Amino acid sequence: MFYEPRLRNHGLSHDPLKALVAPRPIGWISTMAANGSINLAPYSFFNLVGDRPPIAMFSSDGQKDSLRNAEETGEFVCNIVTTEFTAAMNASSAPFPHGVNEFEKAGLAMEPSCLVKPPRVKGIAAALECKVTSIQPLAGADGNLGPYIMVLGEAVGVYVDEKILKDGRVDAAHLPLLARLGYMDYSSVERVFSLERPTVG
Ligand SMILES: Cc1cc2nc3c(=O)[nH]c(=O)nc-3n(C[C@H](O)[C@H](O)[C@H](O)COP(=O)(O)O)c2cc1C
Repeated sequence: MFYEPRLRNHGLSHDPLKALVAPRPIGWISTMAANGSINLAPYSFFNLVGDRPPIAMFSSDGQKDSLRNAEETGEFVCNIVTTEFTAAMNASSAPFPHGVNEFEKAGLAMEPSCLVKPPRVKGIAAALECKVTSIQPLAGADGNLGPYIMVLGEAVGVYVDEKILKDGRVDAAHLPLLARLGYMDYSSVERVFSLERPTVG
């Protein structure tokens, strides 16, 4: 089959696009508003898009609290989600009003970040402390804007729980990272293998 997403001519009950570009990591984004209120919400339109300097992004379907706070205070923290936090991550995605602290709603404790004001989730395996570098409304090929607004930030600090390290490396085989598939599906990293890059000549 072939379809054009704009025309929604896939003939299926759901657009398969997000199930195809998968798994997508989940950035569990903590932010602080100008008034000091704290926010936490998951974003799977999330990734690290460069490493020199390290730039992370999340993309908001319209004006949500994480975007608003990142705009107001110029900082966000990407908490890296492992399976033990699945239920709390999901709970924090409920559409609470602005100013409600999802840490409290999801039964989570806050731990201070090192270089930015938004706290990280206590007990998290890792967290990127980011300073906003640009906020980009996303236009299509016709130049027209859709609802999505991408927030990019430099990871000026990286918190790593030393328990996830083995022999100086992240122990990927024992770190059940949670990822988003399509529909209501999720996956966790369960099989890890290595591959050497090819050389030429
Ligand atoms: C796993 C997961 C991934 C999500 N990814 C996104 C996303 O990439 N962009 C988005 O706008 N909403 C996403 N959502 C929905 C937001 O988490 C939800 O709208 C939340 O209430 C936003 O909170 P905020 O207004 O406090 O930022 C996701 C929800 C879940 C459970």
